[in-house]
Amino acid sequence: MTEITENTRRIIEKEDRLLSYTTRVPYYPLVVDRAKGSHVWDVEGNEFIDLLASAAVINVGHNHEKVLEAVHEQVDRFIHYTPAYMYHVPHTKLAEKLVEITPGDFEKRVAFALSGSASVDGAIKAARSYTGRNHIVSFYHSYHGTTIGSLSVSGYGSDMRKGMGSLVPDVHFIPFPDSYRGKRTEECLESFRELITMIVPAESIAAVIYEPIQGDAGILIPEQAFYIEVEKICRENGILLIADEVHTGFGRTGAMFASELFHIDPDIIVLGKAIAAGMPLSAIVGRKEIMEAWHTPVHFFNTAGNPVSCAAATASIEVIEEEHLLENAVTVGNYMMERFKDMMTRHECIGDVRGSGLMIGVDIVKNRESKERDVQTTAKICYRCWEKGVILAFFSGCVLRVEPPLTMTMEEAKDALDIVEASITDVENGLVPDSAVDQVRGL
Ligand SMILES: Cc1ncc(COP(=O)(O)O)c(C=O)c1O
Repeated sequence: MTEITENTRRIIEKEDRLLSYTTRVPYYPLVVDRAKGSHVWDVEGNEFIDLLASAAVINVGHNHEKVLEAVHEQVDRFIHYTPAYMYHVPHTKLAEKLVEITPGDFEKRVAFALSGSASVDGAIKAARSYTGRNHIVSFYHSYHGTTIGSLSVSGYGSDMRKGMGSLVPDVHFIPFPDSYRGKRTEECLESFRELITMIVPAESIAAVIYEPIQGDAGILIPEQAFYIEVEKICRENGILLIADEVHTGFGRTGAMFASELFHIDPDIIVLGKAIAAGMPLSAIVGRKEIMEAWHTPVHFFNTAGNPVSCAAATASIEVIEEEHLLENAVTVGNYMMERFKDMMTRHECIGDVRGSGLMIGVDIVKNRESKERDVQTTAKICYRCWEKGVILAFFSGCVLRVEPPLTMTMEEAKDALDIVEASITDVENGLVPDSAVDQVRGL
């Protein structure tokens, strides 16, 4: 069992004194010391199998040798010179790679930033500049980030908006399909049609922004029919498609980009999280004409396109390709989903298992009939996993978030799931007290 000492407590107390609580979503007292592949060690020397991958950022595994080499080599040359004023090779090399691997057989341009949120802002700015239209359509339960722009298009919960004053105007929300909790595709499409007939003329809408698979909503995977119709409405009315692939990108779903699963070539694709294997970087890749409709320097960040991050990103993409990580995500992901489905036969609290590749959600409910979310049990399972040596978090209050590095082996997956099942059993047997999860905030 994981043991912590005064050392860990002191570090956490200091954090609590110094850091804004609102920047954190604490789960358990894990102070990371080092990490390699799918394993993480805390400052006490406890070892964990990582089912979180730093929130789907570490797709190629922690501290992959090839990424380390690229970073070291670039650091030795120069750490930064802003590509806004000068040129550097890692910047161009990565842009070339992104243009090549993103969906869409058309001329593209790339713009870098430092966070998914900032790149979502960029996508909105590009869409508005190009179309000359103001309105943006987004979805309930979507998460696009925390800058004012990305928050404005996030339908994640009114708490996030409290006290924020006026957000970006002319943003409209419609429902997103949720086959488990009964939000039907046709109902969602009807809301879109109603929006454009009753509220906002289609010719005033610049773009629809969507996560191809909603992540923070608890892994919601629409059926193909939904996207066929959304795309049709958009194409008929000159509305741009902005795919926010910050979460789904770089192999997470078993495809390089989830747009490929739905056969859509978005006009703009937003990238972040795993793009640079943990180094700070994000990007938008869009049709040339859209990405050139704005004025310089409307989307400029001094340290964006940092050469060390760019070198890490190119190396990371090469790792995904060379080590066949898309295939591994599908193989290990399917195995994990089957194991969770098998657990359903023994554990009543598992209401649903869904996912694609290694983007898996396990819905924990009070009752399979009512599908009422069991927030307390979910938090306890994650807490027990930490005690037993697995890093596990949750979305949407009750959906276990199973998103390990794409390098995870079958053996590691098996070991991790043995611990997850043992933790579920412990929680069912009342071995985790309510007090243990007082501190768990989760999402
Ligand atoms: C789909 C999606 N878009 C945007 C963001 C925001 O990215 P960042 O936290 O890097 O600003 C996230 C972050 O979790 C995300 O999941």
